[in-house]
Amino acid sequence: MIEHIVWSRGLLRLLDQRLLPDKAEFADCRTPTEPASAIKNMVVRGAPAIGITAAYGMALAAFRAEGKSAGSRLADLLSAGEDLKRARPTAVNLAWAVDRMAVKAREAAGCAGDLASVLSAEAEAIHAEDIASCKAMGANGLPLMPEGGRVLTHCNAGALATGGYGTALGLVRAAREAGRIKMVYADETRPYLQGARLTAWELAEDNIPVTVLCDDMAASLMAKGQVDVVIVGADRIAANGDTANKIGTYGVAVLASHHRIPFLVAAPSSTFDMSLPSGEGIPIEERPADEVAVIAGRRMVPRGAAVLHPAFDVTPAPLITAIVTERGVISPVTGANVGRILRRPH
Ligand code: MRU
Repeated sequence: MIEHIVWSRGLLRLLDQRLLPDKAEFADCRTPTEPASAIKNMVVRGAPAIGITAAYGMALAAFRAEGKSAGSRLADLLSAGEDLKRARPTAVNLAWAVDRMAVKAREAAGCAGDLASVLSAEAEAIHAEDIASCKAMGANGLPLMPEGGRVLTHCNAGALATGGYGTALGLVRAAREAGRIKMVYADETRPYLQGARLTAWELAEDNIPVTVLCDDMAASLMAKGQVDVVIVGADRIAANGDTANKIGTYGVAVLASHHRIPFLVAAPSSTFDMSLPSGEGIPIEERPADEVAVIAGRRMVPRGAAVLHPAFDVTPAPLITAIVTERGVISPVTGANVGRILRRPH
C-alpha cells in the first residue's frame, strides 16, 4: 500500500487524493498554512488522516519558528493549531490531534532543547498509533465478519483516510487475510466520489475484489440478499453512540435495518466526542454547491436552482449494530457501553 502521508523533518508530502485514480502525485507542504489548505481543499481527507496531517502541520510550524523566543514560538504554534482546527469542522480527530500537539508544545516550551524535534516525534507517534489502532480494529472486528462475506461500504474509510490500513477497510483487510471476503461493494458516494475514486482504487491496488455502485443501487442489492454486512467509518461519535459520517451513511443504515443486515461502524477512540451527549450537537460541514452542481467541469444544475451540500449526516445509535474500536467492540450501542469500552486502557 502506497504511503500517502510522508514526513521528513520540515517537509510534509501528501498524496493528492483529488487526482486519484488517474494520477498518484504528491503535494508538498513546507509551511503550516499549506496543510490547513490541503485539508480544506480535500488534498487529504478522512477523519484520522486529517488529524495526522494537522499534527505534522504543527510540527512544521515549530520548524518555521526556530530561532524565535520561547514565547513567540509557542504563540506561533498555537495560532497554527487554531487555523488547522478551522479547516474542517465535523471530524473531531482534527481538533483532538491539534490539542494533543498543543499540550506537548506547552510542556516542551519551557525546557531547553529542540521544540521542533519534540513536536516532530509527537506527530510521528500520532501517525504510528493510528496505524496500530486500525490493525487492532481489524482484529477486534474479525468475529463480526461473516464467512464468504459480501460487504457494502460508503465513502472511503480506508488506508487513504487514516495513517494506513483503514478503519472500515481495516476490517475488510483483516477479513480478507482470514479468507472471508467475497466482494466489497463500494457506494460511489456522491458528490465527491470517495467510494468510486478512492475505495475502489485502494482495494484494487491490494487485489481485494471490489464492485462500485451508484448510491441509489444499494437498496435493490440488499433486497436481493446480496449484502451480508455494512461497514462504514466515522467522523465524530457522540457519547450515546450517534455517529456522524459521510452524507448518505444514514440512508444506508436505514436500508440495512429494514433488510436486517448488520450495520457496523469502525472508528478509533480519537473519533469519540464525549462532550456531546447526542449527535444533535455535531457540527455538520456545508461544502460548496458547485461540488454538487458541476461534474467533471460541466454544470449539471441550472444556475437558478439552489443546491444542498451537507458533507455529513448523523446515524442514530439504535441503527448501529456495533461500533468497533481499537479498545473493543461496543454492542449494543448505548451510552453505558460507549463509556465502558472507552475507559479501557489502550
Ligand atoms: O469528506 P471526507 O472524505 O473527509 O469524509 C470522510 C468520511 O466520511 C469517512 O468515512 C470518515 O472520515 C472515516 S475515515 C476512516
